[in-house]
Amino acid sequence: MATATRVPLVSTTSSRLRHCHQSNWVESSFPLRRQPGSYRLFNKSLSSSSSSSSSSFLATPNRRSFRRLGVVVSAAMADLPTVLITGAGGRTGQIVYKKLKERADQFVARGLVRTEESKEKIGGADDVLVGDIRNADSIVPAIQGVDALIILTSAVPRMKPGFDPTKGQRPEFYFEEGAFPEQVDWIGQKNQIDVAKTAGVKHIVLVGSMGGTDPNHPLNSLGNGNILVWKRKAEQYLADSGIPYTIIRAGGLQDREGGIRELLVGKDDELLKTETKTITRNDVAEVCIQALQFEEAKFKAFDLASKPERVGTPTKDFKALFSQITTRF
Ligand SMILES: NC(=O)c1ccc[n+]([C@@H]2O[C@H](COP(=O)([O-])OP(=O)(O)OC[C@H]3O[C@@H](n4cnc5c(N)ncnc54)[C@H](OP(=O)(O)O)[C@@H]3O)[C@@H](O)[C@H]2O)c1
Repeated sequence: MATATRVPLVSTTSSRLRHCHQSNWVESSFPLRRQPGSYRLFNKSLSSSSSSSSSSFLATPNRRSFRRLGVVVSAAMADLPTVLITGAGGRTGQIVYKKLKERADQFVARGLVRTEESKEKIGGADDVLVGDIRNADSIVPAIQGVDALIILTSAVPRMKPGFDPTKGQRPEFYFEEGAFPEQVDWIGQKNQIDVAKTAGVKHIVLVGSMGGTDPNHPLNSLGNGNILVWKRKAEQYLADSGIPYTIIRAGGLQDREGGIRELLVGKDDELLKTETKTITRNDVAEVCIQALQFEEAKFKAFDLASKPERVGTPTKDFKALFSQITTRF
């Protein structure tokens, strides 16, 4: 079972604190929601500081003001959106988790993994909870109190043993009993969406895959799993849920450097018919996080790929990227 422990509020630098106060996207994207305890703390800091603003006591530190600083830092951290990344031990999920942790002035990161081994793999911090998305009850502690959810869980096909490429064989794949796409990509994603809805989550980013418009896509025959069919069903469920969403249908994933290619968005698998149908996991991770920051990303579903390195201009303006998308599903 998961242990629902939040990251202890850590101390931060005064410049970071100022940055927190300056960044207003948080308020526009996420109406503030505080844990009951932190809300009291926040009120206390307001009443006790009376006329002195946070910046004024930052400028004149003394023992008392440092105590106040701690209170206000806690309050500022409490105002940051908490973002849960599920599949946080996966290849893309762990990049998202790391990026969120590096942006501690913008987000409170939380991870969900399936096993203790996965938790250890990504550092074993208290903000990583263990749960199985096939069992809705087991993921409630992770989702409670979360502002935004990034879903990066997926059924994982295993290669059958005995494959020998030197003999010109084609690899065969299978899914473990109970871990077929129907159970993970449909029931598991549905559970996450249902629990998130009950918990009042304000935005869900779901990573799916290109190819879903074609029921005969070769990926569907992989291990008899119909993986793209079940992923698509979960996407539809999210789009119908009423929760603001962003559905990212990634092209073939690559483990390469991110941030150095021009990203391409498309619809209806049109990119699959071009030469640009791959994307790095790092770029997918970045798009997941950027999607939390722009209204233009909400209620959108799109295909995502990139131009090859050194062709085009590396994407930096994500608002413009999301603005190009016109498709809700
Ligand atoms: N591979 C591609 O070329 C490609 C192309 C387009 C889109 N995509 C999609 O992009 C996404 C990210 O892919 P990826 O290759 O980075 O992912 P990945 O490494 O396969 O990670 C999948 C994660 O899901 C977790 N998971 C599976 N069953 C679970 C369960 N019952 N409860 C909780 N967690 C569970 C796994 O945890 P454990 O490690 O503990 O099992 C794993 O961490 C996936 O949705 C994938 O389908 C992939």
